[in-house]
Amino acid sequence: MPIPIELVDRLILALSNPGERILDPFGGVGTTLISALKNGRKALCVEKEELYCQIAQERVLDFFKGTLKWRKMGQEIYTPKNDSVAYVPEEWRGLGVY
Ligand SMILES: C[S@@+](CC[C@H](N)C(=O)[O-])C[C@H]1O[C@@H](n2cnc3c(N)ncnc32)[C@H](O)[C@@H]1O
Repeated sequence: MPIPIELVDRLILALSNPGERILDPFGGVGTTLISALKNGRKALCVEKEELYCQIAQERVLDFFKGTLKWRKMGQEIYTPKNDSVAYVPEEWRGLGVY
């Protein structure tokens, strides 16, 4: 699971200006590339794993095609309504662990 693009957006926006170049020397599956491109920066990365390079390339192409999905900046956090996935296990109650 790649890190959220929205997370990298905050760094790109805070630490660079439009048109500048962003280098990610540990590129992974290209999340930094995508964030840089969507925020009007130029981008390049280095990645040693061939598979990750292929995935990054596909994600960048999907970005340019407009088919890449990402969570919008500032979007409200989704809280599931279904009690079966959003409940505190009985054994945790009273432990103050949440
Ligand atoms: C945590 S991931 C990077 C995530 C990425 N920065 C992003 O925005 O999604 C770290 C990556 O660094 C790569 N890596 C580790 N050592 C490397 C090296 N010497 N040269 C190139 N890539 C390397 C790993 O294969 C891994 O994909």
